[in-house]
Amino acid sequence: MNKSVRDRRVQYETAGLDLADLAPDPFAQWHRWYEQAEEAGCVEPNAMVLSTSGLDGVPDSRYVLARGVTEAGFEFFTNYESAKGAQLSAVQHVSALFTWLQLHRQMKIRGTACRMSAAESDDYFSSRPRASQVGAWSSPQSAVLADRAELEQRVAEVEARYPVGSTIPRPAHWGGWRIAISEAEVWQGRPSRLHDRFRYRLADGANPAEPNAAWIIERLAP
Ligand SMILES: Cc1cc2nc3c(=O)[nH]c(=O)nc-3n(C[C@H](O)[C@H](O)[C@H](O)COP(=O)(O)O)c2cc1C
Repeated sequence: MNKSVRDRRVQYETAGLDLADLAPDPFAQWHRWYEQAEEAGCVEPNAMVLSTSGLDGVPDSRYVLARGVTEAGFEFFTNYESAKGAQLSAVQHVSALFTWLQLHRQMKIRGTACRMSAAESDDYFSSRPRASQVGAWSSPQSAVLADRAELEQRVAEVEARYPVGSTIPRPAHWGGWRIAISEAEVWQGRPSRLHDRFRYRLADGANPAEPNAAWIIERLAP
C-alpha cells in the first residue's frame, strides 16, 4: 500500500555542513554542489525553479535550466515574449531554487534579472541542436494554441524556411537572462529535521561581480 503523504518521512543521514565546509562565495559553492550532484546521478542537476512576480502580483514559478554560473550571475535562456519574459520585463526581482534531492540539498538564490547581450544570446543559440533552434522559432511560448496540429504546422513552416544545412539565426524574441544575486542560501538535510542552513549575503553596497566581493555567511535555524 502506498504511504500517505502525511506519513512519508525520510531521515536525512547525509554528512552535515559546517561553516568551514563552505566556499567563500555562492558561485563557487554552487559549482561544488553541482559537480557532486552530477557524480551522484541527480536528474537535470542544473535545473532551477524560477519564481517571478506575476503581472497580477501573484508569484509564478517554473523550471528553467541554468546555462552558466559565474560571479556575474546565473544565466538561463527562454522566449522573451513568454509569460516569464513579460513578468521579468515588468519586475526584475526573482528567486530561484535548485534541488538535489538525492543529496538532500537545496540552494536558493535571490536577485535581479537582466537580459543578456544580443551577442551572448547569439553565441548560445548557435550552440543549440538544430531541432531546438527550430523550436525557438516555432513556439509562441505561453500563448494559447488551438491544438497540437497548430504547433506542428508552425514547425513545418520554420523547417521549410530554413532547409537542412542552412544557418538558423536567433529569433529576436529568444535570448538569455542573467540573475545578479544579492543573497543565496544552502540547505543540507540532517536527521530529526535539525538541518544545516547557511545564508550568503553581501555587505551593503558590495558588488557581487567584483573579484573577491566579501560575502557574509551566517548559519540559520532550520
Ligand atoms: C526540467 C525543465 C527545464 C526547463 N528548462 C527551460 C528553459 O531553460 N527555458 C525555458 O524557456 N523553459 C524551460 N522549461 C519549460 C518551463 O518550465 C516553462 O514551461 C516555459 O518556459 C513557459 O513558462 P512561462 O509560461 O512561465 O513563461 C523547462 C521545464 C523543465 C521541466
